[in-house]
Amino acid sequence: VTSIDDLPTPALLLDRRVLQANVGRLAGLYGAAGIRHRPHIKTTKCLQVARLQRAAGVIGFTCQTRAEVELLLSDGVTDLLWAQQPVGEHRIRYAVEANQQAQVICVVDSAEVAGPLSARAVADGTTVPVVLEIDTGQGRCGVEPGRAAELADRVAGLPGLRLLGVMTHEGHVSGGAPDLTEIRRRGTDAGAALVGVADALRERGHAAGIVSVGSTPGADSAPFVPGITEARAGTYAFCDANQLALGTCVQADCALTVLTTVVSNQGREYAVVDAGLKALSGDPSVTGQGYGLPVTRDDLTLPVANEEHGFLAGPGRHALKVGERLRILPNHACGAVNMWSSYWVVDGDQVLDQWPIQARY
Ligand SMILES: Cc1ncc(COP(=O)(O)O)c(C=O)c1O
Repeated sequence: VTSIDDLPTPALLLDRRVLQANVGRLAGLYGAAGIRHRPHIKTTKCLQVARLQRAAGVIGFTCQTRAEVELLLSDGVTDLLWAQQPVGEHRIRYAVEANQQAQVICVVDSAEVAGPLSARAVADGTTVPVVLEIDTGQGRCGVEPGRAAELADRVAGLPGLRLLGVMTHEGHVSGGAPDLTEIRRRGTDAGAALVGVADALRERGHAAGIVSVGSTPGADSAPFVPGITEARAGTYAFCDANQLALGTCVQADCALTVLTTVVSNQGREYAVVDAGLKALSGDPSVTGQGYGLPVTRDDLTLPVANEEHGFLAGPGRHALKVGERLRILPNHACGAVNMWSSYWVVDGDQVLDQWPIQARY
């Protein structure tokens, strides 16, 4: 296969040149500012992409699932941050075990989470590195900044744990859209709040060598607050329709598309393509509308999707011919990737390679 015209559809396309540019751009920005980058692997789930990121100088990776940790350890990565709290016997046991192989920093936001991890580490005669998760506004996991020092005292007092610092996921910065200035203001606030917590920890005699923020919408603001040591953007490698809608990327930065074929056009309200929820994922649009964005087709939208069917609306649908091909930009790259087992790696319309997608549920 040499041209995307020869690929079966639906097909997940990854443009290598765009990917490389995205990886290089953030590496340049962070390298110049002395910020370490620990990208999240959940976006790409692919060792070939991880190797590009390693070649660009990342210090390690962020993971959410055990399978992601295993995948990266199998490729010789030695520094991971496992951002899902170690709750439950299986995850606790693996968190301790994985640290025999490499540094796998665990995240805790309460003594309830830290206690059993400590007990397991002690039972195994080892020490597990941890950072405290701080809620800087997202309202997901994380202790409130004002209660972090007290938690640090408790965690530092537990045997078998080594407190390395603090982290936050400032996903809420996207709430500032469509105003980029407001997104950046929120990113800077989140970074400042985290630095404040790190300072408070140090005042009480705790180590805070890691002060870690992480998100793509906040990637050019939160890490640049003095005192932040590392950033964990993941989606930046591919970008997607949601980042485009937020204004945090432009169309030319979007490396991931789904190639699809028009399979029916009965002159009704919609024309129908062979990419639906199982190709694009059901992840919502930040605009509240549609399942993906037909690329360079302002006259088309994708407001409805079944499993294997996408419904195209808009004035452009009338002229669509059965057999015609289109590219759709997924709303959320990470969700779309998780639906597939491989990428077709392309350069424009030319097919270069096929890369496996691993560590899916
Ligand atoms: C803990 C953590 N770190 C980093 C990221 C990366 O954020 P983004 O996908 O916006 O790049 C995420 C995303 O969900 C996350 O949950």
